[in-house]
Amino acid sequence: MDGIRFNRRTAEGEIAAENEPSAELLAKQGDLEVILYRINGESVVWLFPATDPNAIEYFFVHAGGVDLAMDDGLVSLGAGESFSVSGLTTDVPVKMHGDTEILYVTNCPAFEQVKDVDVSLKELLTRINEKDHYTSRHSKAVLQYSLAIYDAMQDRGPEISREDLAFAALFHDVGKCFVPVEILQKPDKLEQAELRFILRHPVDSGRMLLPKFGEQIAEIARNHHERLDGTGYPRGLRVEDISLSSQIVAVADAFDAMTSNRGYNIVKTFLEAAEELASLPHQYDTRITSVLMQLVSSGALEEGVITGV
Ligand SMILES: [Fe+2]
Ligand SMILES: [Fe+2]
Repeated sequence: MDGIRFNRRTAEGEIAAENEPSAELLAKQGDLEVILYRINGESVVWLFPATDPNAIEYFFVHAGGVDLAMDDGLVSLGAGESFSVSGLTTDVPVKMHGDTEILYVTNCPAFEQVKDVDVSLKELLTRINEKDHYTSRHSKAVLQYSLAIYDAMQDRGPEISREDLAFAALFHDVGKCFVPVEILQKPDKLEQAELRFILRHPVDSGRMLLPKFGEQIAEIARNHHERLDGTGYPRGLRVEDISLSSQIVAVADAFDAMTSNRGYNIVKTFLEAAEELASLPHQYDTRITSVLMQLVSSGALEEGVITGV
């Protein structure tokens, strides 16, 4: 991406941990500011294009590390490495590698910590939509299917509020903001290195949701690709370690993946997909897949009702 120059070094420095995010103004002269940011490992921050065309920003990673989600790939920097920004044209999300300290020098501050996760996650969905329309439409579909299943399960369903399940379903894939768009949309088989980006997205989703929404919602996002028999990812959990709520989102997620056109898959009808999921009881909970079958065969879930966000 234009506008960012990376200054690497091979040896990593000492890593110091800090628990609370903070910004300490170390020096100021006119518009020039030197700030030490201590950022908690659960945070996501954004680099925004500066409004002043003469703005220069320099970031030195003092401890911890950062991942910058660039359009052409993820760039990881560790302690002792730095980058400078000028002429940035798009927003760039930055994720911490655990608790991180960044020395920030600027003549036009434009580095903001995301404080309101509600707003930032919605923005994130919009931005993911700009990068990859499938993910945003998919999030909306998974929300609708998850709630339909939840409503139909009634007192056989999980102990979670409808609102919490809705949040988890809508934001289950926000971790995809760290997956380069060419990997998200790649029609061919992914290379090992590319696959690693995909395999980590549930972990990133969980970490992004945890601070604001708590463990119950984060667990759903983290485990939506786990399968009952341990064949899922990222951790290969088994049935006893996967909540019923995450299994609902997992079924809704797989159902949408099977029935929507991602450009490289065979698109199944709702009935075909529901039957296939019901035929895999070792992977998907039959209490959920049988409810899905009822919803599809009764016409309660109709094809073609999900539109783009
Ligand atoms: Fe996912
Ligand atoms: Fe998904």
